[in-house]
Amino acid sequence: MLSDDAAEAVVEAPRPAEEGLFGDFEVDEGDGDGERDSSYGGEVESITTSISDSAIDYKFEHGRRYHAFQDGKYHLPNDDEEIVRLELQHLIWRQCLSNRLHLCPTPNPLRTVLDIGCGTGAWAIDFAEVHPATRVIGVDLSPIQPTAVPPNVEFLVDDITAPWIFDQPFDYIHSRAITIGVRDWGALVAEVWRNLAPGGWVEFQEYHAPFVSDDGTIARCAAFERWNGLLLEAAGKAGVRLDAIVGVPGVLAERGFVNVGRAATKWPVGPWAKGQREKRLGEMVLDDVAGGLEGFSMRMFTKVLGWSREEVMELLEQVSLDMRSGKMHAYLPIDFLWAQKPLDATEE
Ligand SMILES: C[S@@+](CC[C@H](N)C(=O)[O-])C[C@H]1O[C@@H](n2cnc3c(N)ncnc32)[C@H](O)[C@@H]1O
Repeated sequence: MLSDDAAEAVVEAPRPAEEGLFGDFEVDEGDGDGERDSSYGGEVESITTSISDSAIDYKFEHGRRYHAFQDGKYHLPNDDEEIVRLELQHLIWRQCLSNRLHLCPTPNPLRTVLDIGCGTGAWAIDFAEVHPATRVIGVDLSPIQPTAVPPNVEFLVDDITAPWIFDQPFDYIHSRAITIGVRDWGALVAEVWRNLAPGGWVEFQEYHAPFVSDDGTIARCAAFERWNGLLLEAAGKAGVRLDAIVGVPGVLAERGFVNVGRAATKWPVGPWAKGQREKRLGEMVLDDVAGGLEGFSMRMFTKVLGWSREEVMELLEQVSLDMRSGKMHAYLPIDFLWAQKPLDATEE
């Protein structure tokens, strides 16, 4: 819950149409056959990296590869399969924002930008290309970024949940889809504050679980509904709130940020919504989530819930069938959140 002061500090979100976000998603009643239209195009290519230190002494569990630095901190894999999924997901984020990279005002000056939990580095690279005079740094537990990158972008292996050590403040700090890696948002926001220049901006772009359906149709898909609940339970036991972003506007305002803004949209799972653009997005999200099922679940379910690999795979087979059945109008809620450090901020 926001305190009264904090609630007042959250500015009215921009109307989705103005920012290129999706508006309401209306169920397309004529689309009950669950048939796929894979016409969104855009082949997703794998990327390769080459960094040689203990950060690539990767861990392997149940056929998936995980980060080595701060072993066990993050529950999703970092192997080629996950890299390809993240590249697809990057296209979804871009599609979702009508190709924009952020919703906050473009910071001025824009000398340095930090992307925390940068994954494959796709956002950082795109941002660096658009702003060639800006120095862009991406930080992640895994060195899975490409080596051929614009000259103004660099990547570091580090833990964003530990105190940050940078020699100069940033004008803009960006993060996207890091919820599963963050247990203490108060501490993270404090680091963002400490490492932003006065007048600088932060933007969080996050999805939050559980998956929901406004018309209750998730209940038609028993395996998906069960998995949806179990993922929440496992994450909770691991100390991660999958809906944490909902409380972050208050954390930002309490910390002293101003011009706190937010906008929300949805990622429909499958082509169930009216409209070509909506269907296209739904197809991409279905591929993203279906392709990520094993990655989201394997470490969570085996390590946290004590399941065997076979039990996990058996459930996921059913979940995958549910997702492609066309019986449910499920979506993932998406939040965009931005805020500015006051120009006259003096304390670190
Ligand atoms: C779902 S991926 C999103 C990647 C990227 N932001 C994007 O949107 O394409 C989450 C990323 O956060 C990274 N991550 C999670 N916890 C982290 C931590 N404590 N420190 C640094 N990176 C972390 C993971 O390694 C992973 O690459």
